[in-house]
Amino acid sequence: MTSDPTEEAFRDLMATFASGVTVVTSRAGEQDGGMTVSAFFSVTLDPPRVVVSLALAADTTPLVERSGLFAVNLLREEQRDLSARFADRVPPPQKFEGLTLDRGVGGVPLLKDTLGALECRTEARIPAGDHALFLGRVIGVRPGRPGRPLVYWDRDYRELKATVGVSPRREGGP
Ligand SMILES: Cc1cc2nc3c(=O)[nH]c(=O)nc-3n(C[C@H](O)[C@H](O)[C@H](O)COP(=O)(O)O)c2cc1C
Repeated sequence: MTSDPTEEAFRDLMATFASGVTVVTSRAGEQDGGMTVSAFFSVTLDPPRVVVSLALAADTTPLVERSGLFAVNLLREEQRDLSARFADRVPPPQKFEGLTLDRGVGGVPLLKDTLGALECRTEARIPAGDHALFLGRVIGVRPGRPGRPLVYWDRDYRELKATVGVSPRREGGP
């Protein structure tokens, strides 16, 4: 816990900002890794590029550094368990136990049943204190199952209300 009022105010205000939830996966050598990440955004459309912010202390980060490859798996609202599983500090093999996976470029694990996944090659690594920002060139788009996104807001998982007017396309409708 911090007693710095700016830091506390920062945390409190950031809690009011809603984000989607992703699992960033990677593979280097024979080792798979994956971590829950909400610090993700698209940067350019032409060519498609995204940024993820990864903690240096996370087991997945060195895999991204070594392979230069990562995937961003976009979670559906029914996938809180998957988010919790990949946010746990358990040994990487345990995280994938019992999951059937697809494999992308370089063998990077792709989670099944998500909204979809972006396969990325690292174009730049920007140091950011105890994190690093990875600018990824999107080298593959894997559409998944239509649905609603898992949302993180006010320090907890949330679901979009039906009244938000989610497009029928995203519901898998006509
Ligand atoms: C909703 C949510 C969002 C998160 N977003 C990030 C993030 O953007 N970047 C990050 O480094 N860690 C984030 N984390 C924490 C990591 O998922 C967590 O440290 C994880 O244990 C790292 O796994 P690893 O050490 O196996 O790589 C988030 C956790 C949760 C629950």
